[in-house]
Amino acid sequence: IPYLGNPAVLDRVRWAEVLGSTNDVLKAAPDLPHGAIVAADAQSSGRGRMGRAFFSPKDSGLYLSVRYRTADNPALADFVTMGACAVSVQAVEKAADITPKIKWVNDLMIGPKKIAGILTEGRADPDPQKRWIVVGIGFNLFDPEGGFPDEIAERAGSIAGTTARAYAEKGGDPDDLRARLLAAMIDGLTALGQAKDPAPYAERYRRRSNLIGRAVTLTGAGEPLVGTVIGFDDFGHLRLQMADGTEKLIRSGELTLRPL
Ligand code: BTN
Repeated sequence: IPYLGNPAVLDRVRWAEVLGSTNDVLKAAPDLPHGAIVAADAQSSGRGRMGRAFFSPKDSGLYLSVRYRTADNPALADFVTMGACAVSVQAVEKAADITPKIKWVNDLMIGPKKIAGILTEGRADPDPQKRWIVVGIGFNLFDPEGGFPDEIAERAGSIAGTTARAYAEKGGDPDDLRARLLAAMIDGLTALGQAKDPAPYAERYRRRSNLIGRAVTLTGAGEPLVGTVIGFDDFGHLRLQMADGTEKLIRSGELTLRPL
């Protein structure tokens, strides 16, 4: 990947053909600069949210993680996942010239198909110097040979697979997709690491949401909640209008959302 030869990123970015999980590599790594990135072409034990596995076969995706040191930008912790989601959407727009939508909390969608997911993990050490956040993003670039596994076949899609014709018509070279996406992600995640203000990221996040104005059921935390999505605050929390007209702010990522 030619971009990685750029001396400006060499000290912070590592790429490997296969890793267990890029999140785990960064979690276990000793001291690293703020914004260190690990990317892989395949993962043997990719992890998703809520303890699920993340399908990460060779030649079909890009799997990467970034580690931010909390002490280097304390404000970032409150909006890092929302920010990474906005960065990922913009990177796909740049690399593939298509516009994915965001399904709260942080799935990237093309129509009904999920093309990327995000997993954020943190370390809450008593010593502020040792606190960090790892954000991992997995992109499906191409439909895997033999298709997606049955359990996810209905919901999963890939950037080039979902948009193959439009992509080819625009002169897109599939081989470049991975390199362009990685370059755009490195730029975007580096800028996010310096960001003090969530507003521009929140603005982008809202613009790409596919849920604003829609009636939804929220499940996963006690009684299901029924309401209408008003929007999102600057930290990516969901603003839900309840049947009685009151507004509830939903912070937890442990919920699943189902449009009615
Ligand atoms: C989800 O959709 O549930 C989140 C998926 C996150 C997958 C990425 S791939 C890179 C990083 N390493 C992992 O093991 N998981 C994240």
